Amino acid sequence: MRTPRKVSGRRAREAARMHTNTTYLPPAGVDLERLDREIAAMYRDVANETARDLHFPTGRGLAQALGYPADLLDHLPGGAVTSFAGVGYHLGLAGLLPGEAVLDLGSGSGMDAFAAAVAVGPLGSVTGIVITPEQLTKAELLGRDRRVTFVHGRIEALPFEDRSFDAVISNGVINLSPDKRTAFAETARVLRPGGRLALSDIVTDRPIVARTVGQADLWAACIAGASQTDAHLEDIAAAGLELHQLRANPGYGFTSDRARSTSAKYGARSISLVALKPTLTNNTNTTQEVSQ
Ligand SMILES: C[S@@+](CC[C@H](N)C(=O)[O-])C[C@H]1O[C@@H](n2cnc3c(N)ncnc32)[C@H](O)[C@@H]1O
Repeated sequence: MRTPRKVSGRRAREAARMHTNTTYLPPAGVDLERLDREIAAMYRDVANETARDLHFPTGRGLAQALGYPADLLDHLPGGAVTSFAGVGYHLGLAGLLPGEAVLDLGSGSGMDAFAAAVAVGPLGSVTGIVITPEQLTKAELLGRDRRVTFVHGRIEALPFEDRSFDAVISNGVINLSPDKRTAFAETARVLRPGGRLALSDIVTDRPIVARTVGQADLWAACIAGASQTDAHLEDIAAAGLELHQLRANPGYGFTSDRARSTSAKYGARSISLVALKPTLTNNTNTTQEVSQ
């Protein structure tokens, strides 16, 4: 089994300090400490299955609407499926192979990490990273016998060595990051050449105005922090990753009236994509398949 090497020391400490880094300027109107509190509370309640009146759907019904095969869900821990809060079925695009090392960014209560572990088998490895302690604890308990490791940390400062993973997956998380460029740069750093990023996320047709961006509960609910599609793809390209596939996820929709009207106003919707880290010898030969 390939086990990615974790970094301790300076980079791990930098991850913990991320939001007090004075060189990083958050988007206008965003109070990072309030946003952290809102994300912590929202996903704590999702993990504890005590969330009421959420802006977004969760659980098995959501997973099936997005395209997760029912027989795959049957093989995953029930508590992880109940607390699933993703926005797409990017695992269908990821093409995970037996023996691969996979990193799940913002692994929540672990459903995608457990699904990835089924795909990579006993010779592979899966690591999930997440900031919400209750989700981390839940996933660790559910995954005791599943060859999946969960780590507490931020996607903007990954505590792993360069080129540690064959694939990075992420579901509904990049939109929550106040520093998406750094999150993608970190993704590219930990991928091996020839490795791939498969993600599902929320993007918009129009830029979101500052007043809406400043609504921390709507940011935590995966709307107010979403990038316009072009900016999202530019951030991926700026990290040196090449878009390979892109598709819309019509099965995803927000649930509260406020979230629905905001998403309609900005054209917020879910997409899944695959982007490749070029190999050292050939970085021009990728075919693109784009359908939105
Ligand atoms: C919408 S939920 C999706 C969770 C999981 N991927 C799933 O599909 O159920 C977003 C997750 O991202 C995590 N998260 C948000 N911002 C993060 C960051 N900067 N670094 C690491 N995890 C983050 C939250 O703790 C939460 O678990």
